[in-house]
Amino acid sequence: MTTEATPLKGNNNKRNNMIVVEMIHVKKSFGENQVLCDINLVINKGENLVILGKSGTGKSVLIKCIVGLDILDDGKLVILGKNISELNDKELMVIRRKIGFLFQSGALYDSMTVRENLEFPLRRQLITIPKEKMDMLIKEALEDVGLAETIDLSPSELSGGMRKRLGLARTLILKPEIMLYDEPTTGLDPITSKEISSLILEVQKKYNTSSIIITHDINCAKLTADRIIVLKDGICAAEGSYSDLKNSTDAWIQAFFE
Ligand SMILES: Nc1ncnc2c1ncn2[C@@H]1O[C@H](COP(=O)(O)OP(=O)(O)OP(=O)(O)O)[C@@H](O)[C@H]1O
Ligand SMILES: [Mg+2]
Repeated sequence: MTTEATPLKGNNNKRNNMIVVEMIHVKKSFGENQVLCDINLVINKGENLVILGKSGTGKSVLIKCIVGLDILDDGKLVILGKNISELNDKELMVIRRKIGFLFQSGALYDSMTVRENLEFPLRRQLITIPKEKMDMLIKEALEDVGLAETIDLSPSELSGGMRKRLGLARTLILKPEIMLYDEPTTGLDPITSKEISSLILEVQKKYNTSSIIITHDINCAKLTADRIIVLKDGICAAEGSYSDLKNSTDAWIQAFFE
């Protein structure tokens, strides 16, 4: 196993190997707590990269760095060919609009209807948008996640799996090039988890998105991963396809598959 991520690992050879995200020697601490010590990884165009790691190893911090919610202490972050530290606020905003983030919590507004939850990101990002276009985008996003019938409901009337799907629709409506999923199946039963994993694959296929999927759900990793990275002690300590890692003789890697 290697600590240096390379674009040709796993079963990723079928991709065209355009790199959409690159992290080079990335470090991030909170006070004395050094969370990311030396992260090196790439995400290729159209690839689903799964990140495994025990609770508290910095998986969420890693994707928050990509989306700009956490700021790196050191190292280089290149997104869609742009070195983030060299961009001004306007250029950063343009890049961040291309990144969708499905939060661990879903981040829905229960005081709004499903339709209003989907209008919200559109209104925030696009200054003016004709009503017909807005309706069309909302309809498409809801159909993508199988929730067309729920448009006038409140999110509080939806099941956990439906709320996850609505969270995904809210992100997809902005047509992101890069999707970051933080534990998309946590708290869901195995059947609903499988549905969400399938949805992640459908999104990848339909929009050719490149994704990071953080998960503790090994079935989700199996279904969605083109390649897997395992975080440990602030570095990418192992990397490979699902079967590479499943067949690893290292006990600490084996522990994820039990
Ligand atoms: N804003 C913050 N301020 C201080 N410490 C933080 C902050 N965000 C994260 N941390 C710390 O960074 C470490 C990694 O947190 P992170 O949320 O990335 O873990 P994780 O791998 O996503 O865990 P889980 O699997 O439980 O979601 C933890 O020790 C956490 O307390
Ligand atoms: Mg987390």
